[in-house]
Amino acid sequence: MTASDMVRVLVVGAGGHARVCIEALADSGFDVVGCVSRDGSGISGLPCRVLGGDEELEQIAERIDVRRVFVAVGHNATRELLTARCREAGLAPVNAISRFAMVSAAAELGSGVAVLAGAVLNPSAIVADGAILNTRCSIDHDVYIGPFAHVAVGVAVAGGVTVGERALLGVGSCVVPLARIGADAVVGAGAAVVRDVAAGTTVMGVPARERGAR
Ligand SMILES: CC(C)(COP(=O)(O)OP(=O)(O)OC[C@H]1O[C@@H](n2cnc3c(N)ncnc32)[C@H](O)[C@@H]1OP(=O)(O)O)[C@@H](O)C(=O)NCCC(=O)NCCS
Repeated sequence: MTASDMVRVLVVGAGGHARVCIEALADSGFDVVGCVSRDGSGISGLPCRVLGGDEELEQIAERIDVRRVFVAVGHNATRELLTARCREAGLAPVNAISRFAMVSAAAELGSGVAVLAGAVLNPSAIVADGAILNTRCSIDHDVYIGPFAHVAVGVAVAGGVTVGERALLGVGSCVVPLARIGADAVVGAGAAVVRDVAAGTTVMGVPARERGAR
């Protein structure tokens, strides 16, 4: 494929997560033409230019004639808001899938999804729009990952688990089969989830308990 055949993508975000996603976008065959960020600056080592602040995202996309975006912002609610804004402006989110990820042909992915290096997605798993499957996480069969949820680095999610929208499974946590994690819940780093987690609650520890509970 020549550069002129590649679909051009504008990345929203210019931090560490964006840098990782840009590599995955290149693996997925996209031509990343630049980033926008909250204040128009970006971390050093980004392989593309920061074209401005995200308050002018729509104008920048129009000026450089790009119709595809990837929102590479780690904060779940912010990623959801920015994605809605892109869609309203007719900018379609694409997926960023690392060449080192293993995505079953029998799994389903929405749009704007990141599947990063070492992530494993098994058959009949469903990943909704805007979710992050971060480095080396594993998602077993029949799992549902809700919109704009974040499965962080090294998380293990067993079969049949349901993860609600915007939930965060912190780095290195694990979830037993069939557990249900509510919307906007936070699972602390290293936690072992052995029963359902209510929406909007934070749990931590092994076994995971609600913050403040004994
Ligand atoms: C659980 C979490 C959300 C709590 O954050 P917080 O509200 O800022 O909590 P604090 O850092 O003030 O810690 C409060 C107490 O909980 C303890 N604590 C914090 N995180 C904990 C965890 N994951 N497991 C066990 N205890 C934890 C702290 O040691 C502290 O205990 P103390 O009061 O006895 O000193 C956070 O620590 C965490 O684990 N976030 C996950 C981040 C992550 O993985 N992001 C994705 C990266 S890819």
